[in-house]
Amino acid sequence: MCGIVGAVAQRNVVPILLEGLKRLEYRGYDSAGLVVATGNTLTRLRKPGRVAELEAEIKKQKTHGHLGIAHTRWATHGAPTERNAHPHVSEDSLAVVHNGIIENHEELRLRLSGMGYCFTSDTDTEVIVHLIHHHYQQKKDLLGATRLAVAELKGAYAIGVICADAPNKLVCAREGSPLLIGVGIEEHFIASDQSALLPVTQKIVYLEEGDVAEIGLLDFKIIDRNGKPANRQVQISELRAERAELGSYRHFMQKEIFEQPRALAETLEAVLGYGSLDPKIFGEKAEKVLKAIDSVTIIACGTSFHAATVARYWLEGVAGIPCSAEVASEYRYRDSVPNPKTLIVTISQSGETADTVAALKHAKASGHKYSLSICNVPESALVRESDLRFLTRAGPEIGVASTKAFTTQLAALFLLVLVLGKLRGRIDAAQEKGHLDALRHLPSMISQVLLLEPQIELWAERMASRQHALFLGRGPHYPIAMEGALKLKEISYIHAEAYPAGELKHGPLALVDSDMPVVAIAPNDALLEKLKSNLQEVRARGGELYVLADQDSHVSPQEGVHLIKLPEHAGLLSPILHTVPLQMLAYHTALQKGTDVDKPRNLAKSVTVE
Ligand code: F6R
Repeated sequence: MCGIVGAVAQRNVVPILLEGLKRLEYRGYDSAGLVVATGNTLTRLRKPGRVAELEAEIKKQKTHGHLGIAHTRWATHGAPTERNAHPHVSEDSLAVVHNGIIENHEELRLRLSGMGYCFTSDTDTEVIVHLIHHHYQQKKDLLGATRLAVAELKGAYAIGVICADAPNKLVCAREGSPLLIGVGIEEHFIASDQSALLPVTQKIVYLEEGDVAEIGLLDFKIIDRNGKPANRQVQISELRAERAELGSYRHFMQKEIFEQPRALAETLEAVLGYGSLDPKIFGEKAEKVLKAIDSVTIIACGTSFHAATVARYWLEGVAGIPCSAEVASEYRYRDSVPNPKTLIVTISQSGETADTVAALKHAKASGHKYSLSICNVPESALVRESDLRFLTRAGPEIGVASTKAFTTQLAALFLLVLVLGKLRGRIDAAQEKGHLDALRHLPSMISQVLLLEPQIELWAERMASRQHALFLGRGPHYPIAMEGALKLKEISYIHAEAYPAGELKHGPLALVDSDMPVVAIAPNDALLEKLKSNLQEVRARGGELYVLADQDSHVSPQEGVHLIKLPEHAGLLSPILHTVPLQMLAYHTALQKGTDVDKPRNLAKSVTVE
């Protein structure tokens, strides 16, 4: 959730660190800081608030140096104040930046206080810097001291360490939080996310769990958790710098909403060139695994959980395989009944969401044999932990509110439905062709839906003055209502809830009056007539309806009923189409309210802590 960037170079590294922080800011934006080594002294600057505040201070102080580490924070332990901002230092000579949570920090704090270390923050991170300092005093070897220190940590960490005595050396380590090395020409970098380094290098070395590395100007060495030298491959990042930049858009969320036709086309590119789907799109062993399973459990958090919930309707209804969808933070601590023939599917944009990764580990430990992850980040923890995988090709998602990741997850899940449906004899060749044709048409259908933006803006103008909103849907559009409500609440701060429309009269109808806008997803599917009855119940209580229908849904605008019709009914893919106007509604409502669309309060991208 926080971001780390570090550099050792012959040039001034401050602009590199600052640019890296700006690119990582979406991951955490409570406070930011950096420390650079100049000669044998460390200079530290920290600021609560955004990276821009830190930048202003750097300009004022003319900070520079050839070695440095920097951090953007999302507060867990301790308020977002300057004293809690990273880097943390020990005895003015050693500095650390940290992502993750140290679970045994209280016990370590007591021990280190007993040794005379003075704590100046409320963070768990401060124990790391003092611990490394303590070992460094005995060994005068930064790599060795860091290895001894991390061996005493319980929890998750990615850390960067520098020391005033070693002006050309950067040490880093990871366990449970991502960290990578960027390889330049006579300069090296570290970062928690490759997007931070795109302006300086595309050569990336991913550290593995338990690795500790020492990075110099000319080379680096990596030691694995057993103390052995490790050879990790240099990979060329496929990410292009412009993919992570705003271009002509006002916000990343807006850019990412409008990128969906491209993101879907790229996600489907590898599979749509053929007349028939090969199970291998999920991995070499996929056919064997998918034939062996008798049920599917999908585990995810937040928006990705909504994708799981849509897939449940598809998997049972189309592929005829029992399916459950579980919230990862519940599943990992629930006494569930493992079935070794269940396929565990995890879904995640980042692949680093702590609860989802832990839920997968829990499923495997409790006897599940088969796992598949659907993920947007190739080298993420989740992908590495899974036997089978499908990579969505949405490109970097920077806006905190997930948009293109969600629709590409749905496309990937639909491919799983088709493959399982075929293997189980539920989909014949003609039906498969029909579904593949529909998928081919999907990007252009989304482009058509994006043209509805001016109509959505009119809805947003009305929505922006409301305190609450209800979202209704039925069948696979119920999770889309959940997604619409989540988008609205997280970026516009309007309280929004979603219900299956049939549940209305079991309680939520009591909330409906003329102050309650009710957004209804009304595609022309088998449940349309039932949904229309539910909408009558809302109108009868004076509720104002905002109905998203299809061309042939036979719903008419009237007083208290605002209507937007999608260009065509997309059949089974309709949930993907109906998502897009809801994303635009949340976006434009937030714009009207003047909230920080890409960095909503209290949130951060990639929830790498519990
Ligand atoms: C909401 C949102 C979050 C994420 C959730 C899971 O817009 O973005 O709810 O969907 O934190 O994240 P991933 O998909 O990275 O596991």
